[in-house]
Amino acid sequence: MTEQERILQLRAELHQHNHNYYVLNTPTISDQEFDALLRELQELEDRHPELADPNSPTQRVGSDLSQEFETFVHVRPMLSLSNTYNIGEVAEFYQRVREGLAGEDFEICCELKFDGLSISLHYEDGRLVRAVTRGDGVQGDDVTANVRTIRTIPLQLRPLSESPNGGENWPRSFEIRGEILMPWSSFEALNREREAREEPLFANPRNAASGTLKSKQASVVAERKLDAYLYYLLGDELPADGHYENLQAARSWGFQISDAMRKVRTLEEIEAFINYWDTARKDLPVATDGIVLKVNSMRQQRALGMTAKSPRWAIAYKFQAEQQSTILREVTFQVGRTGAVTPVANMDPVQLSGTVVRRATLHNADFMDSLDLHVGDHVLVEKGGEIIPKIVAVDEAFITPERGPKVEFIRHCPECGAELVRYEGEAAWYCPNETGCPPQLKGRIEHFVSRRAMNIDTLGPETIEDFFARGLIRDYADLYTLTVDQLSGYNDTRIRSARKTIQAIEASRQVPFERVLFALGIRFVGETVAKTLARRFRSIDALAHATLDDLLQVNTIGAAIAESVIRWFADADNAFLVERLRAQGLQLQLSDAAIAEQSDRLAGKTIVISGVFAHHSRDEYKALIEQHGGKNTGSISAKTSFILAGDNMGPAKLEKAQKLGVPIVSEDEFLQMIE
Ligand code: IVH
Repeated sequence: MTEQERILQLRAELHQHNHNYYVLNTPTISDQEFDALLRELQELEDRHPELADPNSPTQRVGSDLSQEFETFVHVRPMLSLSNTYNIGEVAEFYQRVREGLAGEDFEICCELKFDGLSISLHYEDGRLVRAVTRGDGVQGDDVTANVRTIRTIPLQLRPLSESPNGGENWPRSFEIRGEILMPWSSFEALNREREAREEPLFANPRNAASGTLKSKQASVVAERKLDAYLYYLLGDELPADGHYENLQAARSWGFQISDAMRKVRTLEEIEAFINYWDTARKDLPVATDGIVLKVNSMRQQRALGMTAKSPRWAIAYKFQAEQQSTILREVTFQVGRTGAVTPVANMDPVQLSGTVVRRATLHNADFMDSLDLHVGDHVLVEKGGEIIPKIVAVDEAFITPERGPKVEFIRHCPECGAELVRYEGEAAWYCPNETGCPPQLKGRIEHFVSRRAMNIDTLGPETIEDFFARGLIRDYADLYTLTVDQLSGYNDTRIRSARKTIQAIEASRQVPFERVLFALGIRFVGETVAKTLARRFRSIDALAHATLDDLLQVNTIGAAIAESVIRWFADADNAFLVERLRAQGLQLQLSDAAIAEQSDRLAGKTIVISGVFAHHSRDEYKALIEQHGGKNTGSISAKTSFILAGDNMGPAKLEKAQKLGVPIVSEDEFLQMIE
């Protein structure tokens, strides 16, 4: 056998073992044997770069090179389903289908509704050629490199002669859609790791899966252990007219298809399916949030057609979030980094969707008051798609005349005693003692060192708490005068980590101005606003001297942000902070390189963005307009200089533009303008 033949043989074998292990859960060789084969293949591929194949089993580990996603326009738009929460509407759906099919017999395919993110996979000649996210339904991101790392997605379909269950022939070209999921076990492990590294946690497996799939490094995706279930086969030459039958065929080609699929005929059978899975789903390894019902025959599907947004032949029934009753013991109040005070309900522990719940956020004073809580009340707790539970109501069945005292919002800060204030238009009460209230002081330092700000990643909340308690730091400027001895407390075992921390603090002096501006923690100045302000004003001094009017001139800056910036710089303590940071050599102005990227090519132009774009996202175009001195507005008027139009610009906008004689500029023309 030549080395080339051996490579092909190994690839086919490894694809099969992969399928046995991940999809069928019945491996036929040991992990060591698998690794040995994979290593052999890797060595042969290293020797024969000319035989490289992106679908080789060696590519499942993903590259750690950074990638940008290309936009891909879906061959067939990805529609969503209409949702219902009640069985009555399911009956109406059933009735509509019956009438739509004018008395013809029909079958309904009942399936689980997986709670992840939808994906469209394209196969040509049995090979995965493209994987695209749903995006806005018309076009999505090409995430093929990331999807290749998901072990349950076949890269190469099995030669049919070797298919154990005698699969039907796959069409030369087809699309298959499904859901990318992060199993509960991977999700929990990931959050545990993130907690240990003091990184923000993912709220639920869907967010975790989505964050992972959009990762710029395929190797990160490979580590995170995503899974996929496929639920919709499309193409011009499908094996059968039945949706269910097509999916059974797809299973024989190597795809992971849920076992929880039933073809039924009556409404009673549909109800039985729903009732069964409402409970049974809690034992599944992945998150589900409902049931999908589809007319099985594709011919009948076509006959029923679609409405503007969703097909008439399918509907999603969503499960109610699980509720439990428990007793409210106390409401405590937490002070956050911004001084916002959040009420938290402390309850008797209760089991809810697989975890024990003791605490629930009450969000703010209005929400808390609307519940009319009294200590000792029985309360209904619910956990929906989010992991954080909430109290939905007092369980009225248990209210007695001798109810406990009503829960009242506090008037003074539980941490520093300052009288709380409420700013106009905001739901939260704030502790105004910004320069003396410990959680605010610590919180601002935590924000300052966070990854997207100064990225001093060796300093987590616990270390900051420790330095704070030892009196080493009171604000973030103090970080720059810390010494190794202070940090280690002359304790030898701590010297190494103390040195690392000092190095990270040193390195942060080079962090670019826009991130320093974000790190300062000015209210309402998030990452994007910080970037905009940095580009427009170019230095902290120019920003500090800007008037309210100067700020409001900036396209995306509204009154709340502008006032907050003015207030921050007017404060003498903050002015002193800036001076201390300056003395420490932080970047308080835009770098020459960043300035060189700017121009005034669009100065004086008012531009409306419309449609979908191939090269950059809408937000990127907004930023580009800003960067080149232009102004982006939402609606077309006689003052509009031109419309930056992508595909599918709305007909109403087009008409208005023509009426007012506003020129239309294509994406490519625009990019040339600012080139
Ligand atoms: S079928 C035109 N089947 O739910 C019908 N979707 O709003 C296409 N989903 O975007 C979808 N499980 O991400 C279908 N068994 C299932 C599903 C499912 C989850 C998701 C999918 C879709 C959304 C519907």
